[in-house]
Amino acid sequence: MLSRCLAVVQRDDPARRASAAVESAIVGELLERTDSTRILEVGTGTGRLSPVIRSHAREYLGVDIDRISLGIAANSWAGRPRAELLQSDARRLPFPARSFTSVVLVRLLHWFADPSLVLAELRRVIRPGGHLIRSVNSRPSLDTLSLDVWSHLRSRGRQLSVTFSRSPFIPIRSTEHPGYVGSRAWIRALLRDCGFVELEVRGAGYERFPLIRNLPPNVCVRLSPLVGGRCWVPSDIFLLRSGPAPSTVE
Ligand SMILES: C[S@@+](CC[C@H](N)C(=O)[O-])C[C@H]1O[C@@H](n2cnc3c(N)ncnc32)[C@H](O)[C@@H]1O
Repeated sequence: MLSRCLAVVQRDDPARRASAAVESAIVGELLERTDSTRILEVGTGTGRLSPVIRSHAREYLGVDIDRISLGIAANSWAGRPRAELLQSDARRLPFPARSFTSVVLVRLLHWFADPSLVLAELRRVIRPGGHLIRSVNSRPSLDTLSLDVWSHLRSRGRQLSVTFSRSPFIPIRSTEHPGYVGSRAWIRALLRDCGFVELEVRGAGYERFPLIRNLPPNVCVRLSPLVGGRCWVPSDIFLLRSGPAPSTVE
């Protein structure tokens, strides 16, 4: 039932549709620059991005911690082998080291209080020189600003600002499923410390705001390299290369 509601929201919400189209096109373009022999998608969810990833992969595998989401993904891929999907925790992947040439991770990392656990695991399973495509929610951005204004109004001024906090990495809600958001400098340092070399940053998420989402999606995709890393963009999509282990750098 819940998943059916989610599917309806995704289908009928123009903001989500605009965002999904742009994100999917960016992921497709970045995959063209990677070694796509064996691609792992981590946090597959209901398989929103899986078709574009699979179309670039000689071999594809998707993992998610949630069995129900994986079931929905599998049902929407009529005729595809279910062996392509596996229930697993991103922090403890059941694969030997260097199993994949590329990994894609979209809309997942902001759920972790310690994202370095996931990044270390991804680095382990990516072959040296292989690629990681990952999306990151950064601050400040239009997202954190709108969240701040909304929470501030609801709490009548008792809520502290997420956008202008001095802490580099902070929770953005205090529900049972808190999300986390980091400053761009903190995120870049984390990626470096976890052994990834930044190759390109694309901006995403801005296309769901009312005026911009009326632009054709391909215009937003063309703009994405120019706006990546800008302070108002809600999400950045990084193309990274798995570099030498930090301790082995001469
Ligand atoms: C917001 S959805 C994103 C799904 C998909 N990547 C997309 O962009 O449409 C986040 C997904 O991450 C999954 N997830 C959350 N924690 C996880 C974990 N520890 N290991 C693997 N998947 C996890 C959730 O079950 C959910 O399907």
